[in-house]
Amino acid sequence: MLETNHPFTIALTGGIASGKTVVSDEFAKLGIAVIDADVIAHEIVEPGQPALEEIKHTMGTQFIDKNGQLKRSDLRDLIFSDPKARKHLESILHPQIRQKVRKAIEAVTSAYCILVIPLLADRDVYPYLDRVLVVDVEPDTQVHRLMARDNCNRQQALQVLAAQPSRAQRLEIADEVLNNSGSLTLARDAVARLHKRYTQLATQQR
Ligand SMILES: Nc1ncnc2c1ncn2[C@@H]1O[C@H](COP(=O)(O)OP(=O)(O)OP(=O)(O)O)[C@@H](O)[C@H]1O
Ligand SMILES: [Mg+2]
Repeated sequence: MLETNHPFTIALTGGIASGKTVVSDEFAKLGIAVIDADVIAHEIVEPGQPALEEIKHTMGTQFIDKNGQLKRSDLRDLIFSDPKARKHLESILHPQIRQKVRKAIEAVTSAYCILVIPLLADRDVYPYLDRVLVVDVEPDTQVHRLMARDNCNRQQALQVLAAQPSRAQRLEIADEVLNNSGSLTLARDAVARLHKRYTQLATQQR
């Protein structure tokens, strides 16, 4: 159903600390529905949720703490070193994330919606995307903003960057690029321009 009758949907992606949250907050202030795939990914592993139960049953109780919460850092360590475990975990999480995203999109009432997908490497995973907007900054800016925001050192910041898809990979799937290397005011102006464009495109689609 979604492929034919869904709200105009823009994927918002970008590397760590590129400014996705800053940008998506601006769209939200303009009254646009913002759906965050990362937030949904967290929700589905809350205690009592089916994804967490499946992790417990198929990967073991060592990944659940005494309060029933997922031990994220233990699981992260495992999937960094074990590609098979990573695949297995993804086979539990991804279909459930996609289903919840789909439900959230179906409920949208604004002119269009923004779907924040931090690690979008392949747009075919979400066949109903109309546009892909990439928030882009130089890696050096990412490092500086990440260090300032998360209070980490340069080496830690570089490590996180290295584990993500490359800037070139991101730009390859972009329909629009928001260059966020300037001030916050410039970022806000860029969102206002994109808002005009997307409102227009969404209207044309109807
Ligand atoms: N144009 C800008 N000028 C100055 N600082 C900025 C600008 N854009 C974002 N920042 C700051 O950089 C940091 C990273 O921005 P933000 O949290 O929006 O990135 P993100 O892409 O959402 O990161 P993550 O991938 O971790 O979710 C924040 O502290 C934010 O306030
Ligand atoms: Mg963010």
